[in-house]
Amino acid sequence: MKHLLGLNHLSREEILEILLLAEKLKNETRSGIEHHILKGKTLAMIFTKSSTRTRVSFETGMYQLGGNAIFLSSGDIQLGRGETIGDTAKVLSRYVDGIMIRTYRQSDVEELAVHGSVPVINGLTDLLHPCQVLADLFTVYEEFKTLEGKKLAYVGDGNNMANSLLYGCSKTGVDISVATPPGYEPDAGVVENARMFAAQSGCSVSLGNDPMEAVRDADVIYTDTWISMGMESEKEKRVLAFAGFMVDANLMSAAGPGAIFLHCLPAYRGFEVSGEVIDGPSSRVLDEAENRLHVQKAIMAILMGGS
Ligand code: CP
Ligand code: NVA
Repeated sequence: MKHLLGLNHLSREEILEILLLAEKLKNETRSGIEHHILKGKTLAMIFTKSSTRTRVSFETGMYQLGGNAIFLSSGDIQLGRGETIGDTAKVLSRYVDGIMIRTYRQSDVEELAVHGSVPVINGLTDLLHPCQVLADLFTVYEEFKTLEGKKLAYVGDGNNMANSLLYGCSKTGVDISVATPPGYEPDAGVVENARMFAAQSGCSVSLGNDPMEAVRDADVIYTDTWISMGMESEKEKRVLAFAGFMVDANLMSAAGPGAIFLHCLPAYRGFEVSGEVIDGPSSRVLDEAENRLHVQKAIMAILMGGS
């Protein structure tokens, strides 16, 4: 593993290695053990979009591993004034030991990795959000003590979360069913790859337009905002298109007992999820958010510390 650009580039074994190291780091940190795996190392964090969880969990994670993180808003660095990604990658590689980037185009993240000489971590693009899905899989694993044979239902927009969940589930043997309104399906190329990965790991990938159908027998119900960053101008149209796609108590009850609710956050109560569900007993969204920290520490330890 040289970079974390998308889960499509990782093997099942590499994903499980990250989750097991996350579990170890989580347990050890909780019992007061200090880690110095990244002592003297620096992570540059480029953001061209907003963030709460990604910024704070990466920065804290670096600190907990003995290193440092530098927050670089695109409004403050020369990238935002037209310096090329190639030059940015080459220059940053002379200073830092890893680069995390949150931006619009997946191709920009891949270009950064091509031109730089340090590991690049995708902190969200319009296409993918791999760090989030690793935290999601870890949360599912903590809940059920296994991934294989579990079923995740994703209800809502076929966005970066849906795409990355398709990769994460199909790589690790989790059945995934996605329900979106017509016209809001996940990326076609991602779906094609996920079907191929699912055939290898022995799980299923199904797509449809009926939330009730998708959640049947599911162990995990997942949703995300209907209006991702960059889509704000489509809000009115999308709220109409997604009518009937809110995850509420009625939909949760169709999934059966023991099903948990996940959401990458930020959440919009009364739109993609009811307050009753996200603030109710089936919700694991805060564990899920916390797990970003543990999983990203594992990713950084592997990519930047040779763990
Ligand atoms: N889930 C997630 O990536 O949250 P932020 O946008 O707050 O980083
Ligand atoms: N789909 C959302 C995820 C936020 C973490 C977005 O891209 O805005």
